[in-house]
This record gives sequence, structure tokens and C-alpha cells, in this order.
Amino acid sequence: MTEKDFVLNAELELPKQGSYKWKAPSNIALIKYWGKKPNQIPANPSISFTLDACATTTTLTFKKLDKKAQDYSFDLYFEGKKHDDFKPKIYSFFKRIECYLPFLRDYHFTIHTSNSFPHSSGIASSASGMAALSLGLMSIEREVNPKITIEYFLQKASFLARLGSGSASRSIEGELIQWGRHNDITESSDLYGLTYPYKVHSVFKSYHDTILLVHKGQKTVSSTVGHDLMHGHPFATARFEQAHENLTGLQDILAKGDLKGFIKIVESEALTLHSMMMASLPYYILMKPNTLAIIEKIWAFRETTGSHVCFTLDAGANVHVLYPEKEKEIVIQFIQDELVAYCESGHYICDRIGKGAKQLKV
Ligand code: PMV
Repeated sequence: MTEKDFVLNAELELPKQGSYKWKAPSNIALIKYWGKKPNQIPANPSISFTLDACATTTTLTFKKLDKKAQDYSFDLYFEGKKHDDFKPKIYSFFKRIECYLPFLRDYHFTIHTSNSFPHSSGIASSASGMAALSLGLMSIEREVNPKITIEYFLQKASFLARLGSGSASRSIEGELIQWGRHNDITESSDLYGLTYPYKVHSVFKSYHDTILLVHKGQKTVSSTVGHDLMHGHPFATARFEQAHENLTGLQDILAKGDLKGFIKIVESEALTLHSMMMASLPYYILMKPNTLAIIEKIWAFRETTGSHVCFTLDAGANVHVLYPEKEKEIVIQFIQDELVAYCESGHYICDRIGKGAKQLKV
């Protein structure tokens, strides 16, 4: 599929009005996307676990205008309240996707959106939010053009979501999603995510992710700025190559259920992501002292108990604690006994690998 394949024929008849509601999950990358080319093309391929509990629910209501608007016409409500400060993000998203959805100016949209996780938790809602909105827009496209296949529907939703936020391309389906061209995976694409096409051992289909909320405030450097700093970064080329190699390495690990191999790649990826930030110019640190304290505790716990618990990080201070289903009891106990003390207000969120977005009744 190329970009051209995602353009909707504008001649089709448009529905007068309607409403669609989608719940889309967040995701946590195991191999990180960090650095991009123009048009939201990733500098390297990535792979993620789709989450289950952390999600955004978006109701998209649309009403046909008498004539095409000069500009996009929409209102945005976040958790029931009008939120004009989110509008510029949606505005630039619409601008990027209009060539693929030429009906955007034909409607007034009312967007009601809410997150299952607290707003100021430090958990990014851009992936789940852009995915839920893209699915709503795709539901309109399907009304216009009912012939599209479910495969096309999901692929284009991922394609559109990517144009809102790169990692959102991995928030449409479950359970393991790969995004970005990689030589070992013929179907892989820089344009959309795909369900990991190789064998995945059952141990990885019920993995848990407990998110420790170390710092709930705004991050000091946004992901957009962070991606940008990979241009001219002294270690960028080596990092992009490493991501390709790690994806190759993960294939056997995922197939065999090799937990030790999994830990090695996943933790290395998390620390590499943050070392890229530290080696950027200007340099910066998003981890907090408690992030490091938790990492050390996890290593010590693994050493003494032989557990397979491990961590990963996204672009922030929070720690994602990953573990297999059969270690659920001991790890939760460990978190409560030893890690909760490092969380802001003792807050953490229990999540697990999920199956992807769901359409809900309006
Ligand atoms: O989708 P963005 O632009 O917010 O970037 C996400 C980057 C990481 O979360 C750090 C890694 C990833 O692959 O999700």
C-alpha cells in the first residue's frame, strides 16, 4: 500500500449526520520509535504491546453543512467540558489528513473525548486519542464507501492515526503491533502498524503492565522536540541500526517464549531511548531519582527471586513494570511492598496486554 491508496474518492455521496463512538487503547513500545523523517515516517521500526485498561473513548458527531466550510468546523469537549486548548492539535491533524478524507470541510464535528486514566498522570493520551478519532472518521468513510474491507478500514485508521501521533498507528489493533519498514517482515510499512505476523508464544499474550506514576506533571521536553533532536544526533545512525537488529532478535524470543532474552532487549531499549535524550544537544533528562530507584529495586528483586519482572519507559519518568501472568501475585506484592513508595501519591495503574480498539454504542 502507498499513500495514494488511502485517498478517498470525493465524488461519493455524503451522509447528512451521524455519530460514532470508539474506545482505543494506549500502547507501550518494546522497541522504541525515536526520530522521524518528514510526514511522520519513523526513522526506525518499532513494536509495542497494545494495552487494555488505559484507553481514550471518543464520540464523533457530524452534521453536514449547507456548503463546504472555508476552514474546519469543530468543537472539542474533554471529559464533558469544552477544551479549546486542545483544538490546535486537532486542527493540524485535520490539515494533515484532509487529502485522504476530503469530506472534512463538509461537516461540523462535535468531538467528546475522555480518558480512562487521570489527565495529569503523565501517561500520554495522544496515541489512544488520535487512534479513537481516526476510527470515528473511518466509520464515516465506511458509510460513504461501504465496500471497503475490514482490513482496509483498520489499515487506514492506523495510517491516519500515525499522522496525528506516530505511536498512535500502533493503537488500533492488538496484541503486538509492529510499525515501520523492516527487511525481515515483508508486509511491514512506515505508513501504518500491522499485527506482528510471526509466531508469538502464549506467555506474551497475557503479559501484565503495571504503570508506576512517578511524576504526574508535564514533561519538560515534548516528544516532538525529542524526535527532532535525533536529526544530527551523534549516535542516531547506530541507534536506528540497533532498533532493526533488536527487532530481528526479538523474533526468536517471541516465538520461543524466551523471557530472559525479552528482558534484555526491552530494558536495553528503554535505557537507550533515555540515553539518546541525554546525548542530544541540548541534552535533557526525563527520568527522576525515583525512576532510577525503581529500576534498581526491580534488578535486585529479579536477582534474589529469579522473577522475570522487567521494566520499560516511555518518554517520561513513569515506569512500566512488565511481567508474565503466572508471576502476577508475587510481582503485585513486590510492587505494593517496595515500589509504591516511589510513586507520586502512591498511584499506579494495573494494565495488561489488550486486543485493540472497540466500537461502542452511541
Ligand atoms: O508518538 P510520539 O510522537 O508521541 O512518540 C512516541 C515515542 C515513544 O513513546 C518514546 C516511543 C514509542 O515508540 O512509543
